Amino acid sequence: MQALADRLRAERRIVFVPTMGFLHEGHLSLIRIARNAGDVVVVSIFVNPTQFGPGEDFQEYPRALDRDLALAEKEGADIVFTPSEAELYPEGFETYVHLERLPRHLCGLSRPVFFRGVATVVTKLFHIVKPHAAVFGEKDYQQVMVVKKMVRDLNMDVEIIAGPTVREPDGLAMSSRNSYLSKEQRRSALSLRKALIEAQQMVSSGERSSARIVSAAKDSIASFPETDIDYIRIFDPETLEDRKEINGPVRMALAVRVGSTRLIDNDLLNPAR
Ligand code: PAF
Repeated sequence: MQALADRLRAERRIVFVPTMGFLHEGHLSLIRIARNAGDVVVVSIFVNPTQFGPGEDFQEYPRALDRDLALAEKEGADIVFTPSEAELYPEGFETYVHLERLPRHLCGLSRPVFFRGVATVVTKLFHIVKPHAAVFGEKDYQQVMVVKKMVRDLNMDVEIIAGPTVREPDGLAMSSRNSYLSKEQRRSALSLRKALIEAQQMVSSGERSSARIVSAAKDSIASFPETDIDYIRIFDPETLEDRKEINGPVRMALAVRVGSTRLIDNDLLNPAR
């Protein structure tokens, strides 16, 4: 992959879409963005063990390589890079990329190794694929911010492009983990989107207190069966620090366990909307 990237890079703009596979419309939208942003689209498929903590779903994470290859090709990917675990993490691997501040919020609190694993594997993949630009989905808002910060801090010469969240017709954010949900849980999963819409409605009708909006969101989600809230936060879109008052555009993000499946979603809250 490195030798190929060297040859391609000389004359063409490489745009990279890193994924963990089990591709859905959200990933395919990122591939389309990549196609419009450069000449060669590289997609990677690698379920990265270092971003899963003990007791998380690394073993169960859905995998469907043949299906993914067909979908990626149909969408216009030129190269699909599928390294093995032994290739990316050989015996004796001991170098990790760690951010000091951004992971101390949101998902980083309940998934302590997650961002270290993401920052490490994305760095490795950037060194292997040598892209000019890379596309990440905004459903993982904190991940986009972490990758952007890492790229700035470490002078990586890669433009980071964020792709908007793609949703099912009923509003559920697309995720490979939606495949874990039973029919009843699938209904409860809609509570995340519903809470975000209700929050924007409160803001549009003049509510400025984050505490009151978060409290209403908690009640709304708790009214759905099998939901267990990990966090609901309203925060500064850049620093991810909590915002008590909503005096301008802020971001709201939430993580909710539905049964044993942990789902996340986020959106902008804008008083001007
Ligand atoms: O968003 C994902 O699928 C993963 O976190 C990523 C960026 C491919 C790194 O493993």
